[in-house]
Amino acid sequence: MPDRWLVLSVRVPSDESTGELAEGLFALGGSAVHEDDDWLRTHLDPPADPKAFVAAAAERLRHLVGSEPELEWRWQADEDWSSQWRRGLAPRRVGRRVVVAQPWNEDEARALVAGVASPVLVVIDPATAFGTGEHATTRGALRLMEGVLAGGERVLDVGTGSGILALAAAGLGADRVLAVESDPESMGNARANLERSPWGRRVELVNDEVDAAYLARHGVPGFDLIVANVLSGVLVPLLPGFRRAISPGGRVILGGIMESEAPLVLDATSGARLGLEAEDREEGWWTGLLGRVDR
Ligand SMILES: C[S@@+](CC[C@H](N)C(=O)[O-])C[C@H]1O[C@@H](n2cnc3c(N)ncnc32)[C@H](O)[C@@H]1O
Repeated sequence: MPDRWLVLSVRVPSDESTGELAEGLFALGGSAVHEDDDWLRTHLDPPADPKAFVAAAAERLRHLVGSEPELEWRWQADEDWSSQWRRGLAPRRVGRRVVVAQPWNEDEARALVAGVASPVLVVIDPATAFGTGEHATTRGALRLMEGVLAGGERVLDVGTGSGILALAAAGLGADRVLAVESDPESMGNARANLERSPWGRRVELVNDEVDAAYLARHGVPGFDLIVANVLSGVLVPLLPGFRRAISPGGRVILGGIMESEAPLVLDATSGARLGLEAEDREEGWWTGLLGRVDR
C-alpha cells in the first residue's frame, strides 16, 4: 500500500460519457471509481511526476470523450481514505436472498442473514479488484441472477473482478462457474474471496481475456448463464459470441451500461438474436437479462 494516493477527479460533461470516463480512470490505474454528482473520482498510486501524469491523463480522457476534460487532483494520505472507506462498509442485502458482507463484520452479517429465507452470504474483502457490492451495476446483476438460477447450472462470469458474481452464482445453486478476469492484479483478491467461501470450490478462476475465440473454445456444451458486468464498449462486440455460447434455454445478463446507452445496446442484442426478458435500473445504470430468440 502506498502511504498516500493521488486523487483524480473528472467532471462528467454528459450522461453518455460516464461509462467511457469511468473506463478511462480504470485504465489509468484507478482501483475504484466513485460518482459524486457530476464528478467521477478515483485513487491512484502516487506517480513520480504528478503534473506530467495529470497532463497525460487529460490527453487520454480527451480522446475518449472528444472534448477537453475538466480535471482536479490532490494528495490524500492512505489513512484518510482506504482504511476509513473499508471501516465504513456494512453488510447489505441485495435482492431477496443475497447478503454481501466484509470479512471483519461477519457477526453483523449473520444477524442480517437471520431474517432472510434461504440466504446466500457472499463475503468479499474490498481490496483493489472491482466488485465490493457498493456499485449499482454489481447489484443489478445480482438481482437478475437470483431470478434465473434454480440449481445445477453452468455459468460463465466475464470480468469477475473480486469474484463477487461468480460466488453469488455458486451460492444460488450453480454447479460449475467459470470466472474469467483479464486483469492479473485482481487475481489475488478473487482467489482469497473464493478460498473463504463454502462454494469457492465450484468456481474455476482464470486470468484471460474473453473474446470471440475464447467463447468458441469454452461455449461447448453451452452455458446456462453468462453474466458480464463490463462496459458497453466491451460487451457489444461480444454479443454474437455470447449467443453462440449459451445453451438453447440459456440466458445472458449484461451490466455496466448507463440507462442512456441501453437503447443502443438493445439494438445490438436484437441483431445478435437475443431478446430482453427483464431489466433492472439503479442510480442511472441499466442491467438486462436476455434469452435466445430463434428465428
Ligand atoms: C465493472 S468490473 C465488474 C467486476 C464484478 N464482476 C462485479 O460485477 O462487480 C469489470 C471487470 O471486467 C474485467 N474485464 C473487462 N473486459 C474483460 C474481458 N474481455 N475479459 C475478461 N475480463 C474483462 C475488468 O478488468 C474488470 O475487472
